[in-house]
Amino acid sequence: MRHLLSTRDLSRDEAIELLDIAEDMADVQLREVKKLPTLRGRTVVNLFFEDSTRTKVSFEAAAKRLSADVISFSAKGSSVSKGESLKDTAQTLAAIGADAVVIRHGSSGAPLVLAQSGWIDAGVLNAGDGTHEHPTQALLDAFTLRRRIHGSASRGRGLDGVRVTIVGDILHSRVARSNVWLLSTLGAEVNLVAPPTLLPVDLANWPVSVGYDLDDAIDAQPDAVMMLRIQLERMHAAFFPNSREYSRAWGLDDERFARLRADSIVMHPGPMNRGLEISSRAADSPQSSVLEQVANGVSVRMAALYLLLSGEKGE
Ligand code: CP
Repeated sequence: MRHLLSTRDLSRDEAIELLDIAEDMADVQLREVKKLPTLRGRTVVNLFFEDSTRTKVSFEAAAKRLSADVISFSAKGSSVSKGESLKDTAQTLAAIGADAVVIRHGSSGAPLVLAQSGWIDAGVLNAGDGTHEHPTQALLDAFTLRRRIHGSASRGRGLDGVRVTIVGDILHSRVARSNVWLLSTLGAEVNLVAPPTLLPVDLANWPVSVGYDLDDAIDAQPDAVMMLRIQLERMHAAFFPNSREYSRAWGLDDERFARLRADSIVMHPGPMNRGLEISSRAADSPQSSVLEQVANGVSVRMAALYLLLSGEKGE
């Protein structure tokens, strides 16, 4: 694998291979092996033009557990605030010797530009670009689902017939887009539920069913419900019902949570707006996989870095 830019680019076999390598990485960590020597001598640059907690820390931990050197860069406090371009920023970091660049950017397509530009020779991993994609988030979500559903028999398997309902601000969600492509590639049935104003206009091309009523979707008893963060920072005020109305119609509140099957999985990529799209009872319940998703992110990102920088299958 040269770059990881979009889950749309992954075949079923490639996605399953990556999830299986992440299982190997998780096994190694269970054996309390603190570091693998796999990427010794390699340099990973984390290039974050947008805020992040989970993705940034997780990529950093993943690279360090594979013995890579890590350089973490945040646009805030850098020469980006003096007007330095993406090209000059990337080339400056490449001059320091990056083998892989992990990039989060507010503009959809920035990782693709970096990968295709010829400005740098490094592999590029998309850590979230605008409203476009967040491939490693979808991979860690699929990994978490596969483990919850198939347990120790997960290796080699997809998510055939698993019914996943994704709820909320689909319009602005790179997590939703990456999940739609990956989950359907793995054989899952994806249902989107949102206010009509928070759905994209090009849905006809998406492999999903669509609804507007969360109560109907809960009554259909999905295997997993993925609640999305309301992205107030990307929202035009005119398109968003007020928070109370939104929560009443599309929030996973205590009452809706109580109607879910006891083995329905409650997911959220984080950060959560508690009391808006999800109640604390739902988020903190044993059915919730929120913290598992974060923990699994390290194994999945180790697998992605490994595939990018070694190009070989794991042992
Ligand atoms: N899920 C996710 O991308 O979280 P961060 O913004 O904290 O990285």
